Amino acid sequence: MKTTYIKVAAFCVASLVGTTASIASDPIANRQAMMKNVGAAMRVAGGMVKGKIPFDSLAAELAMRVMNSSASGLSSMFPDSSKTGGDTEAAPKIWEDKAGFDALTAKFQEASAAAVKAAKAGEGDFKTAFGALAKNCKACHQDYRIKKN
Ligand code: HEC
Repeated sequence: MKTTYIKVAAFCVASLVGTTASIASDPIANRQAMMKNVGAAMRVAGGMVKGKIPFDSLAAELAMRVMNSSASGLSSMFPDSSKTGGDTEAAPKIWEDKAGFDALTAKFQEASAAAVKAAKAGEGDFKTAFGALAKNCKACHQDYRIKKN
């Protein structure tokens, strides 16, 4: 009886560890989660720029830092093993033209870093930097993302 219980408990722990490990090593799920963070940061920042949310320097800075940390890790989230699977919207062009993709990732990184600084400088500067940053989304998505719906 007791041994069975211990075995069941050990199995549960083992499968929990297994699940955690597979989430951590799933680049598709990881990059989609990263992009969702980028989307959320965009809604906060865009709301401020459009006047739907009052401008707040600290909140704007935080949103841009979320954006920048996602941009920094983006290039490494597309190993060859992750071309298909899950419900990925990654376009084949990412692997066919890695240099082009990396160049856009680098631009995204620079634009978000500039927006972090601009958020600290004030609303006027932030609006300008945000405008430049927002162009990066479409620039990359139009060639490197297949929109499924
Ligand atoms: C350098 C390329 C690149 C840039 C720049 C970029 N994205 Fe993406 N984005 C992608 C790719 C590739 C996917 C598809 C990932 C997948 O499904 O595997 C994606 C997916 C997304 C998704 C869907 C996530 C999900 O699965 O639910 C959102 C939302 C998103 N991007 C928002 C943005 C916003 C907002 C910006 C600009 C601030 C941006 N992205 C900039 C490449 C980029």
